[in-house]
Amino acid sequence: MVLDALIYIKDNVDSTLTFRRSCREGICGSCAMNIDGTNTLACTKDIADVKGAIKVTPLPHMPVVKDLVPDLNHVYAQYTSIEPWLKSDTPAPNRERLQSAEDATILNGADGHGPAGCILCFCCSTSCPSYWWNGDRFMGPAVLLQAYRWIADSRDDATGERLDQLEDPFRLYRCHTIMNCTNTCPKGLNPAKAIAEIKKMMVARR
Ligand code: SF4
Ligand code: SF4
Ligand code: FES
Repeated sequence: MVLDALIYIKDNVDSTLTFRRSCREGICGSCAMNIDGTNTLACTKDIADVKGAIKVTPLPHMPVVKDLVPDLNHVYAQYTSIEPWLKSDTPAPNRERLQSAEDATILNGADGHGPAGCILCFCCSTSCPSYWWNGDRFMGPAVLLQAYRWIADSRDDATGERLDQLEDPFRLYRCHTIMNCTNTCPKGLNPAKAIAEIKKMMVARR
């Protein structure tokens, strides 16, 4: 994998080379970067899939801390703003809050590629032209997919409040359905569909 090559370079060629990685299994989202022109995870990108020399750059249109490490402070502040935790009006049960298999499928996806599978790698947001130009106010596909993950959760009682928070010309409606996000997601998720679902819910409640 490309990550193995980066580790080799760090160990044997240039110890100052700086990049993030943790799980090396496509689970933590740390090693997201642009490889051969596409945002993806270095730990799951096979070297054999790239022809010739491999060009590696940090995720596009993000401030760079060093080498392949982008500054994620802004995007994490946006993530915090959607309050990504369960809000329920009922007291916490002794054990977990249950939901039907049908409701769980909305989160997990019938094919296992539902919004709950997002690893917050931000490959999608940093491939989105709307996020490049309006990232200060547009939430971007990763954060909107996460917002949808809570809006769609049958155990959450804050749907109206969550939709209110997104009802804004920039936060949600800067998505123009260009689909770069869905095309690049290394986990096979569909942020563009999640955004479309939020827009549909906005229309339905009017
Ligand atoms: S579908 Fe929306 S969020 Fe996804 S890349 Fe296009 S504009 Fe960005
Ligand atoms: S939707 Fe996909 S590309 Fe976007 S942050 Fe989640 S896992 Fe990464
Ligand atoms: S190292 Fe965790 S996703 Fe690549």
